Amino acid sequence: MKRREFLRRSSVKGITALTGASLFLKACHTEEDMIGEPNWVVQGLFDRPLPMPSVVKQSATLHAQRTSGQLLKGKMTEILSYGTETIGPTIQSRMGESINVALHNELKEDTNIHWHGLILPEDMEGHPKDVTASGASFRYSLPINQRAGAYWYHPHAHGSTASQVFMGLVGMFIVNDDEETMLNLPSGDFEIPLIIQDKRFDGGRLDYSPTEEEIMTGYLGEQILVNGLHAPFLSVASGWYRLRILNASTARVYNLGITGGIHMNIIGGDGGLLTAPETVSSILVAPGERIDVLVNFTDHPAGKEVYLVSNRFSEYNAQGRQSFNLLKFKIERTSAHTFTLPQTLSHIKLIDQNTSVKTRTFDISGMTGGEGGHGGSGGHSINGKTFDMHRIDETVQAGTTEIWEFDNMMGDEIHPMHIHSVQFQILHRMGGRNQIIASEKGWKDTVLVMPGEKVQVIMTFPEHKGVFVLHCHNLEHEDDGMMLNFRIV
Ligand code: C2O
Ligand code: CU
Ligand code: CU
Repeated sequence: MKRREFLRRSSVKGITALTGASLFLKACHTEEDMIGEPNWVVQGLFDRPLPMPSVVKQSATLHAQRTSGQLLKGKMTEILSYGTETIGPTIQSRMGESINVALHNELKEDTNIHWHGLILPEDMEGHPKDVTASGASFRYSLPINQRAGAYWYHPHAHGSTASQVFMGLVGMFIVNDDEETMLNLPSGDFEIPLIIQDKRFDGGRLDYSPTEEEIMTGYLGEQILVNGLHAPFLSVASGWYRLRILNASTARVYNLGITGGIHMNIIGGDGGLLTAPETVSSILVAPGERIDVLVNFTDHPAGKEVYLVSNRFSEYNAQGRQSFNLLKFKIERTSAHTFTLPQTLSHIKLIDQNTSVKTRTFDISGMTGGEGGHGGSGGHSINGKTFDMHRIDETVQAGTTEIWEFDNMMGDEIHPMHIHSVQFQILHRMGGRNQIIASEKGWKDTVLVMPGEKVQVIMTFPEHKGVFVLHCHNLEHEDDGMMLNFRIV
């Protein structure tokens, strides 16, 4: 029985009953019984060159529109785009600048832009209440007052976030600063943005139509695209590369690694550089998260080919049982550049736990029986509530520090939790993996909370006041109501 049906049939109300229901299901079913296996990922030929999104500075004009692109080899498909390319332009800025972006909504529905990871005034950051109607325009003016990092942008109109992101409305937003520039990290042709999205097609048509079951598991695509293209390759030199990876999928988690014994040196996460690099053979990246990786192709012979892959990561969860290739690197020439991996990358001041004025717990393990607010459709909940645009769920004081705890101990779904308008630090992960991974040892805005896990984060709220959201970045869950408002006063 599906969880939702179970809950409806037994007309369960309230959190105690919900916890009971979830325990019952855990005891009697495996994830596979409940949801089945997602279709296997379709590998491609890796014979088309990786496209690079164009780069804009200072100002940008984005036309959200329906257009077409050749995502799959030899097939044109209708997509949504911010211009003529399949991925939105990379907006490049420096700390201290102000960036102007004009959004023209040429879609038939509402849209807006949320600047994921940027700390912005309420009216500029793309809360679901602030949408631009079909045919209208909006001018975003974005004061950049934060450290270097790879942030990103996407629509946030409640109920259509997932479909608009899935259809292609995404782009990267890079911030640079002096601390990062001093490191002389690989740049230009050696700094590669990799925006990963999985897609599903129905007879050649890009198809976003999750079933009730897929709203629970997430809508998993069979084709994995990098920078808007299925199965591309990148011709590289035998030197060091900086890969700036964004998981812009609605629900798919990747366990990224590189074949051929090449390690990933993790130098940053959502909110910029770590204090020191950490070398891993593979790393989990959840929807909404970014990782900054240095890869060394030196000492590999010209002609060698290796792959960016996603490795199996869970026996319990259906999508975790898959492994597949995403991108082929063809090492084709030697590089004159020399580079040594720095031992120290940046300075991060740890937030002192004793300065926290309050600890809030968010139960993210439940499903409601449909009695949520008018915003939600009665599915995924936080603290038993589904999103209500007009209800303020939490109130925090500007400039104060708090600890927030995301509790998925009793849950059986994967929830990458995201908070707007702050960057946080991760204190603990209890249960499940029981540890903080390499990319989590710096500033973060999204944190993966696996079934059976409870994660504590600490943050200091900005001085600007207003209403912001926290939500699950599994966009099926988010559109299903797994989102709350918090007000900074
Ligand atoms: Cu990237 Cu509120 O989201
Ligand atoms: Cu965000
Ligand atoms: Cu979720």
